[in-house]
Amino acid sequence: MLNIIIFGPPGSGKGTQSKRIAEKYDLIHLSTGDLLREEVKRGTNIGKQVQYYIDQGELVPDFIIMKELYIKATEHINSRGFIFDGFPRTIVQAEMLDKMLEKREIPVNIVLNIIVDEDELIKRMIGRGVDSERSDDQEDIIHKRINVYKQQTYPLINFYKHQGKLISIDGMERVDKVFKKICTAVDAYISDKTIMESM
Ligand code: C5P
Ligand code: MG
Repeated sequence: MLNIIIFGPPGSGKGTQSKRIAEKYDLIHLSTGDLLREEVKRGTNIGKQVQYYIDQGELVPDFIIMKELYIKATEHINSRGFIFDGFPRTIVQAEMLDKMLEKREIPVNIVLNIIVDEDELIKRMIGRGVDSERSDDQEDIIHKRINVYKQQTYPLINFYKHQGKLISIDGMERVDKVFKKICTAVDAYISDKTIMESM
């Protein structure tokens, strides 16, 4: 199994890159943001509970996120692996993910840290807001989301650095170029792992 986390601030291109990574490495794209938006669209109970948080740019409580994640991950437990997009967002979520995977003796293999300047993030999200139906791609909420990222999500960088899993990728360039860098990093990891396992 290959489990990758794609990490980075809102607007760093996680969703775009995840789709490509999922296709190339035959992984399940697990975006908690997409799952939540789907719940809202379907008007489910969970959808009603989470809409407020999404509209305000705040984080949905960990237990709701973990439940969504667990259901989706269990559905695909026999897959070749996952690309986790927009998850974990908090240390608690990261610890719970580790626990969930440890039980099955499958680790998170690598964490891709996509680095993009704040001005560029804002520009991208405002651009996306013009034709996306996302209620949270408006300027005041965009600022809020970036602040929430800095306070609650950014500390995960150290968490994964300590685990020796963090790989930083410059995300300022065009989609294709960023994807190429990601593939180089993932391929190097796979090749090292193959060598280690055959020793
Ligand atoms: O990941 P994405 O940017 O699509 O998430 C959109 C919104 O969904 C976040 O701003 C937040 O309100 C909510 N979310 C969350 N926890 C996650 C993923 C998404 O609270 N793990
Ligand atoms: Mg996204």
